[in-house]
Amino acid sequence: METRKPVDLANLAEPGTPAEMWVRRLDLKQLPRHIAVIMDGNGRWAQSRKRPRVQGHKAGVEAVRDTVESCAQLGLEALTLYAFSVENWNRPRHEVWTLMNLLREYLRRELQTLQRNRIKLQILGRRDRLDPGLLEELDKAVLATSEGDRMVLNVAINYSGRCEIVDACRRIVQDWASGKPVDIDEDTMGQYLYTAGLPDPDLLIRTSGEMRISNFLLWQLAYTEIWVTEKLWPDFRRTDLFEAICDFQSRDRRYGKVHTEDRKEAPEDLSPKVDGAQG
Ligand code: FPP
Repeated sequence: METRKPVDLANLAEPGTPAEMWVRRLDLKQLPRHIAVIMDGNGRWAQSRKRPRVQGHKAGVEAVRDTVESCAQLGLEALTLYAFSVENWNRPRHEVWTLMNLLREYLRRELQTLQRNRIKLQILGRRDRLDPGLLEELDKAVLATSEGDRMVLNVAINYSGRCEIVDACRRIVQDWASGKPVDIDEDTMGQYLYTAGLPDPDLLIRTSGEMRISNFLLWQLAYTEIWVTEKLWPDFRRTDLFEAICDFQSRDRRYGKVHTEDRKEAPEDLSPKVDGAQG
């Protein structure tokens, strides 16, 4: 990735808007490197308007556009969007078809914008079950944006965190069986995941108030900060993104350790006290 350029605040938010208020609170030197998003609540958004569920997915595309644009403008290294899980195949056929079609349309419409903004598209997930025509378009879009050096946009399609770990293990075993020296450790696992080469997400955003990670990036989310909003995905905009990042910046990320100051404290004597013992 190219070195981070200074963030152009004027491009990020209109003066006088709530987005601008949040953006001014951001510490631009402590931005997350990678944000992952579980885009949830499309069905409820549509149902609350007495419209078919698929209208919620359609409305969600605008939230995708705004989020991709603002993350690129902020200079994030990676944004990962959960668009379709392996479990989503169990939805009504028309809904599955609409979702696949929306992905196809998004790529057709946005490809030039992604290229112009040097955004590199990657697809996370298994290729089986995906329509060959869609796969071809996905592959073309991935190739056409492969020189992108500003931000990686991962779109998880036919994705499952458990399948990703299984796939990584299978490929490790294949490489090992073909004579390649492979040590099984955390670094090796990371290199065999779909997200190889990217930092783990610092922040996971989930819309619609659900407190689950839903089989998403199970390995990579080990130390990720989670931010959940009641907003439904089609209503999510950059104001919410900036609020999430501000909240992330107020967190105390210790990765299981204690602070340096706390480490300087005199060690507590935990040895059992013997009655009458001196000293
Ligand atoms: C979850 O809402 C959302 C999805 C399963 C699909 C997300 C897809 C999009 C936003 C559109 C296309 C994406 C891209 C990247 C162009 P839900 O239907 O489970 O909502 P509910 O919980 O209210 O029923």
